[in-house]
Amino acid sequence: MENRSQWGTRLGFLLAAMGSAIGLGNIWRFPATAFENGGGAFFLPYLFALLTAGIPLLILEYTIGHKFRGSAPRSYGKISKGMEWIGWWQVAISFIISTYYPVIIAWAIMYAYFSFGQQWGADPTGFFVGDYLQLGDPGTFGGLVPSVFLPLIAVWAIALFFLGRGVKKGIEVANKIFIPTLAIIFLIIVIRAVTLDGALTGLDAFFKPDWGAITSGKVWVAAYGQIFFSLSIAFAIMITYASYLPKKSDITNNAFITGFANSSFELLAGIGVFAALGFMAVQSGQDISDVVAGGVGLAFMVFPEIISQMPAPGFFGFLFFASLVLAGLSSLISISETYIAGLQEKFNISRGKAVTFGGGIAAILSLAFATKDGLNLLDTVDHFINNYGVALAGLFEVVAIAWFAKGLKDFQNHANSISDIRLGIWWRFCLGIITPVVLGYMMLQNLKTEVT
Ligand code: PHE
Ligand code: NA
Repeated sequence: MENRSQWGTRLGFLLAAMGSAIGLGNIWRFPATAFENGGGAFFLPYLFALLTAGIPLLILEYTIGHKFRGSAPRSYGKISKGMEWIGWWQVAISFIISTYYPVIIAWAIMYAYFSFGQQWGADPTGFFVGDYLQLGDPGTFGGLVPSVFLPLIAVWAIALFFLGRGVKKGIEVANKIFIPTLAIIFLIIVIRAVTLDGALTGLDAFFKPDWGAITSGKVWVAAYGQIFFSLSIAFAIMITYASYLPKKSDITNNAFITGFANSSFELLAGIGVFAALGFMAVQSGQDISDVVAGGVGLAFMVFPEIISQMPAPGFFGFLFFASLVLAGLSSLISISETYIAGLQEKFNISRGKAVTFGGGIAAILSLAFATKDGLNLLDTVDHFINNYGVALAGLFEVVAIAWFAKGLKDFQNHANSISDIRLGIWWRFCLGIITPVVLGYMMLQNLKTEVT
């Protein structure tokens, strides 16, 4: 693999890493998670998680990819023969996510279109589950829903097109288009949101600190969980992307930039979402806590309602759903690249073949979520991936590297030899002690809630 593909520019790599990190998690997961876990007080555990686990792990993953210049399975295999499976585990999780993530992007495409004329009518929730997803249509399980199926094909066509063109001409170009566009759109939306009537009511609710919350283990688990998911760490992604870095790259600096860019976007999303929720609460005379939602509910049930009440609903509705599409596509490309790179190296095949096989199978499997029972299936799979798959992947990663292989010192030296910011004992402490303890505790908590 002497002629390994490379990013064209440092900015290209950074935009791709940010493109992976900035996704639906920032827009629809962070705001509600923060609100439910202490509001303004959540920023303390959140920042702690970013600095003790998020950025240190990002540095480790960049270093692994850069040092071994391979997909995740190959890179882990080079650390130690017995570790290749950790790479495959992470790739497998990314593969599974890549079967349902594009379905949500497909919904967003349709909703960008529905925004014109507010086709969801007076009852957006009923419209979403009934008219659009055709959920719970008894006896028709297995029936594809055309209005989900068709945009889903478009999503895959776009993603596989860029993936097929390679690292520099494909992935880098896509992110250079998507991410700046996303940033501009998002700024417009947030400025509009904070100037709506009632915005302050929403922001007040969002930032009001409940300091008692930070004594609860659940809140800390939520903070670490958000950081892991949001930074796309332990998904094999950042290792793969870093494997295309040129020899001379400031790894540590890049990790700090990626981490802070993602969190800034998250904070901005929180402000935008809660300003809009405040507007809606004031319009409808409801209490803010009655209108707060996250995930699918926020994007496809609550937001259509907000949009309908706004001035220029078609324009702002389109921008909102377009931002979901752009954020989603750049993340989808990154998840899919993990198995494309893995397949390419494992079977020594061309990128084109790996894209066709890997992407093709993921695309076919994704059709299961475009059926009349798709949303239920999506919820179930997402639950298991988020509660067990990711925490386990992170745990395997840090424990294996810090405790069983040659240890973190090698990686520290590698990063320090090319980076401005020096890693010290604090870095090894974060990864060797804090992160495993937190992830272990997280697993136990998740199992406990499962049982009760
Ligand atoms: N980090 C992305 C987000 O915040 C989500 C994601 C997770 C993307 C896993 C790729 C892989 O939305
Ligand atoms: Na994110």
